Amino acid sequence: MIIKEYTEILESTIAGTYLTLRLNAPKIAASALPGQFVNIRTGDGFDPLLRRPFGVYDRSGDTISVMVLLRGRGTRALAEKNAGDTISVLGPLGNPFPAPHPGKPPLLIAGGVGAAPFLYFARGLSKPKMILGARDRLLLPPLESFMSACELMISTDDGSKGSRGTVIDVLKQFDLSAHTVYACGPKGMFAALSEYFSAQPVSPLAYFSLETYMGCGFGACKGCSVPAPDGGLKLCCTDGPTFLWSEVML
Ligand SMILES: Cc1cc2nc3c(=O)[nH]c(=O)nc-3n(C[C@H](O)[C@H](O)[C@H](O)COP(=O)(O)OP(=O)(O)OC[C@H]3O[C@@H](n4cnc5c(N)ncnc54)[C@H](O)[C@@H]3O)c2cc1C
Ligand code: FES
Repeated sequence: MIIKEYTEILESTIAGTYLTLRLNAPKIAASALPGQFVNIRTGDGFDPLLRRPFGVYDRSGDTISVMVLLRGRGTRALAEKNAGDTISVLGPLGNPFPAPHPGKPPLLIAGGVGAAPFLYFARGLSKPKMILGARDRLLLPPLESFMSACELMISTDDGSKGSRGTVIDVLKQFDLSAHTVYACGPKGMFAALSEYFSAQPVSPLAYFSLETYMGCGFGACKGCSVPAPDGGLKLCCTDGPTFLWSEVML
């Protein structure tokens, strides 16, 4: 069931270009699962008109958190809110992450803010390995929570934190056939992963959690469609946001 809840901001923390909001959202928190997202009215009134989607970053008791990369009008409007303010949140939306295949431990791959949905997921797993990449150290999300929940391997394109190179360079150490892979990040990362997966002798069991532009968040506007290899379209909000890597064309 999709719930619209007027939630109080309990904490608002800005670190570099990242904002973390902890919201009192008892109804949504009661049913939100890892991999699902919420659609937030970011400004006051109807400006911006469209809500903005954010993965459930964490959940504890009656609260949920979101981690937001400050990009444009909507996210900057959110950054201007203070603890005690109320925001309208719709959720939980989309499908949860599929469970890891038995005998194939999860391997998480995140590009920048793509790490956001993995914290809550990782808390329910036993310290999964996570490869986290960004162009440089300033674009990495706050690391503390991830370090406690995951075995973190960091890469930056310029080598300013972790190993120099992309997530693919780190991924090359792994036997993909031994893992259930989950990836979330920018389009370029998905394109590089698709190319790498296509070159494997056996197609890996890998999921992509997509970030598209969205309108409604629940299947009504068709604004989030993604092309599929069979010529059809998938809706990121209701068919996803997580898809088998071979189910979508990016
Ligand atoms: C299912 C889902 C989960 C998401 N989870 C998170 C999350 O946990 N944390 C987070 O920070 N963001 C997440 N996003 C992306 C987030 O919704 C956008 O960053 C946000 O809508 C940007 O709003 P804005 O008004 O600040 O930017 P706008 O003013 O709309 O755009 C500013 C700039 O960002 C680019 N942009 C905007 N939206 C996207 C997008 N979806 N993908 C790529 N580029 C975009 C635009 O092209 C433009 O250059 C998620 C998106 C989806 C669909
Ligand atoms: S966002 Fe409206 S159909 Fe997906």
